[in-house]
Amino acid sequence: MTRLIEDAAEAAALLRAGELVAFATETVYGLGADARNGKAVAGIFEAKGRPHFNPLICHFPDAESAWAEVHPDERARALASAFWPGPLTLVLPRRADSRVDLLTGAGLDTLAVRVPSHPAARELLRLAGIPVAAPSANQSGRVSPTTSAHVMEELSGRIAAVLEGGDCEVGVESTVLDLSGTEAVLLRPGGVPQEAIEAVIGPVGRPASPEAGGALRSPGMMLSHYAPALPVRLEATVVAPDEALLAFGAPLEGAGAVFQLSAAQDLREAAARLFQGLRALDGSGLRGIAVMPVPGGGLGPAIRDRLDRAAAPRDA
Ligand code: TXA
Ligand code: MG
Repeated sequence: MTRLIEDAAEAAALLRAGELVAFATETVYGLGADARNGKAVAGIFEAKGRPHFNPLICHFPDAESAWAEVHPDERARALASAFWPGPLTLVLPRRADSRVDLLTGAGLDTLAVRVPSHPAARELLRLAGIPVAAPSANQSGRVSPTTSAHVMEELSGRIAAVLEGGDCEVGVESTVLDLSGTEAVLLRPGGVPQEAIEAVIGPVGRPASPEAGGALRSPGMMLSHYAPALPVRLEATVVAPDEALLAFGAPLEGAGAVFQLSAAQDLREAAARLFQGLRALDGSGLRGIAVMPVPGGGLGPAIRDRLDRAAAPRDA
């Protein structure tokens, strides 16, 4: 039985005892485990049905505790003061004496670290006093959860508890930035826009595609991801009565069901409602989901990245 709990101290004690506890962050709900405990971390992969051991992000209450596990350089320190706590994840060289289990980092010599801003997450991390590994709290390849009810739908019976933390404010995952090389590389667009990062450390590169000979730097960035059960069609300019519409601004007419991301075309509001919308329309019983165009800039690339993945051809 998975319990919904309100007490951060109870959730912290469960984590320290090696149990799996989902908790809210400002981006999406995470499925947490003691990052030092390989068995607990293996439980994350099992509960999510993750086919590969993708590296996980380690969560900390503050930058100082993150720096105990990785080597920050000047760029990392500047970004941490600008954006932590908040939706930015930094990939940095792991310290030789890091307590984090190798499985957490999938055996890589780097580690992804982040300090979330959600008050419930901060309290949990402070009380737990350990690095907490946490991917999004959904079944592998499915839509990320932004409410405790979503987490229960995904993982009930597979984890010890969910710490209630209300709705997630940002709604898309953190930006993942690789600082392990001389060039900063954006591995995943997310809650902190690329422009904001560049204002602090200068130009940021994109990962070389595997076809172009670049190593696959973020193993978790598989194309088909965030997939609802229904097929997803992007850049819709017309919609059929047997389709559900994910609207951005004035909705196209004639859809069988409509979920409005943001009537005012506000990208922040749209990001916060994105996964909720995909989930709601997935339950519409219609033929597919048509998505209206979403512009670039700010959180636009993060939203479009998630939509591209939702629309990508499925593995199975
Ligand atoms: O907003 C978020 O980041 C949420 C909340 C719960 O914090 N977490 C999340 O975790 O989205 P997950 O596991 O769904 O995504 C982590 C991403 C994956 O694409 C993974 O491959 C990448 O970060 N990653 C983690 N460690 C890495 C490393 N050492 N090197 C390169 N990429 C890494
Ligand atoms: Mg995920």
